[in-house]
Amino acid sequence: MPLSWLELHGAMTHFPIALFLVSAFFEVAAFITKHEDWRKTSYLLLLIGVVMSIPTLYSGWMSVETVFVGAIALPQILLIHRTLAFATVILALILLIVRWTTHDKPSITAFSILCSVVIAIMIGMVGYLGGKMVFGGVTVDIISTHQTASAPHGGTATSNTRGSQAQVLAIMKSNGCLSCHSMNGVGGISAPDLTHEGTRHPDVSWQIKHLKDPTSVSPGSSMPSFAAMPSGQLKLLATFLANKK
Ligand code: HEC
Repeated sequence: MPLSWLELHGAMTHFPIALFLVSAFFEVAAFITKHEDWRKTSYLLLLIGVVMSIPTLYSGWMSVETVFVGAIALPQILLIHRTLAFATVILALILLIVRWTTHDKPSITAFSILCSVVIAIMIGMVGYLGGKMVFGGVTVDIISTHQTASAPHGGTATSNTRGSQAQVLAIMKSNGCLSCHSMNGVGGISAPDLTHEGTRHPDVSWQIKHLKDPTSVSPGSSMPSFAAMPSGQLKLLATFLANKK
């Protein structure tokens, strides 16, 4: 595919934002200057804005599917961005339907202006949060695509790397690791961040020992013991942690 969903979303998103903003501008300007015909422009821009929103929402949704594949939880900022985006389009659609069914009568002008301004403010916030995520570097998933989870015996990473990473995440999820620890920006704050765990403890046997009996290598540790975990899972998890650089 020549363009990723995220690139497509980034390019498309400017259209509904600009259309909703200019539509609100014409709506307010028509009221102030008494240029009634400007309302037609605002109506047309709103219509195109709603139509353009559909592929924009879709590409945004698919971006999350591809960028955050396998993620345990989505970042808060993304959830707000997405909810607000859907709310904005729904409000714009309601306004469009009202203006359409009432033939844009002057009696609905006050409602229409209010909605337009609210939509403009909301779409501004959606755009701001979106930009903050992309340019602020939040689009890093739990299974970072840049992570080189090298094969256990020094071989090159194989095609099942992603599969075993998904398995590790499932193990971490079912054992509640991320209720205490954070990793790649997601999780709890009561234990050390594990994003670069491999730079501190690159030794797989240290990791296994620590998981089985935390206090044996980290005196006074309050981390629970995972000695009951099947040894295959322990090894997979320890290898992942030791290579998490
Ligand atoms: C109840 C909270 C809690 C849970 C659940 C928990 N940990 Fe920990 N973990 C800690 C604390 C506190 C420390 C710091 C003390 C230590 O090193 O043992 C720690 C330390 C670690 C370290 C060493 C971090 C360093 O300093 O470099 C690793 C690796 C680790 N935990 C992995 C895990 C994994 C994997 C799981 C899930 C199977 C898990 N932890 C579950 C609390 C927790």
